[in-house]
Amino acid sequence: MSQPPPAARALLARLRGLVEAEQRDTLAALDWIENRPAETAGDEAATIAALRAENAALRAKLSGLYQHAEYETWFEQAFGIKFPTPNTWPFTTFQQGTPWCDKVVYGMQDGEFLYAQHLIAELDAQGVAGDIVEFGTYGGTWMEVLAQAVEKGGGGRTLWGFDSFEGLPEPDAAKDGNIWHKGQYAATLEEVSTRLRATERPFLKLVKGWFCDTLPVEPAAAVEKIAYARIDGDLYSSCVDCLAYLTDRLVDGAILVFDDWQFTINHGETLAFREWAAANPQFRFEFLGMNMWAHLYLRVHRRP
Ligand SMILES: C[S@@+](CC[C@H](N)C(=O)[O-])C[C@H]1O[C@@H](n2cnc3c(N)ncnc32)[C@H](O)[C@@H]1O
Repeated sequence: MSQPPPAARALLARLRGLVEAEQRDTLAALDWIENRPAETAGDEAATIAALRAENAALRAKLSGLYQHAEYETWFEQAFGIKFPTPNTWPFTTFQQGTPWCDKVVYGMQDGEFLYAQHLIAELDAQGVAGDIVEFGTYGGTWMEVLAQAVEKGGGGRTLWGFDSFEGLPEPDAAKDGNIWHKGQYAATLEEVSTRLRATERPFLKLVKGWFCDTLPVEPAAAVEKIAYARIDGDLYSSCVDCLAYLTDRLVDGAILVFDDWQFTINHGETLAFREWAAANPQFRFEFLGMNMWAHLYLRVHRRP
């Protein structure tokens, strides 16, 4: 499971700095005009009066736009950090790696697990047929969550987990950035099978190999319908392979989840999705939500 991309956080912080600098400069200019000596006369006095009126309106507009400025200045002075950012929802200020931070983060993760299971229960209730698939299982954390959902629904769906069980392939720096490296997230098929009690769960199938090799052939090729797909292969090329496989299999009403949504149209899963969606106008996508780990949830509709 990936954390929000550090590059996105750094970019947002930079943008915020630029906006603040712009606002500081604008307010300083307004101050300068307003504090001009009043001993001018005639036309100049009239011009200055008009400018002052304009300034007052502009200042009111600015403070309406940036209503947190006073609070944030105070917060920064009091605690020595710029936080929270307006219009965002920070989940914790507890330092990463501390038990308190873990409690908050894992509490939110539990919430997402329940959400995913709720979506599958909804598919069951609506009679949406199809298998469940995760591309990129690593140690099996999400596979366990999905397996429990299948069991709660009576075990009628097959749950597929595809992975190299050797970790990530070589990332492409131009399309993936420098977040990942080859071999990252390696877990063996044996350890994941044991952890997931695969031999006791006949509905659960783990398939070892690179997506480009395993998805076009049996047993994957024999799957006809998919009702829930979770793409967690991190990389652009991995996501391209998964989406190509899903094109003819995603049923109307299916859930499509991206675990590593990027906040740029030119990278990773976002780029792969953008290209795939453009090439497949038969789909309409309903945005269900996104969480702090950039896990994006969509409902897929097939146009009639
Ligand atoms: C971030 S991990 C998945 C985490 C997992 N979903 C969980 O619940 O913890 C990414 C996984 O994708 C797999 N992967 C990425 N690209 C792949 C590809 N092209 N073929 C096969 N496996 C791939 C890696 O081996 C790795 O286990």
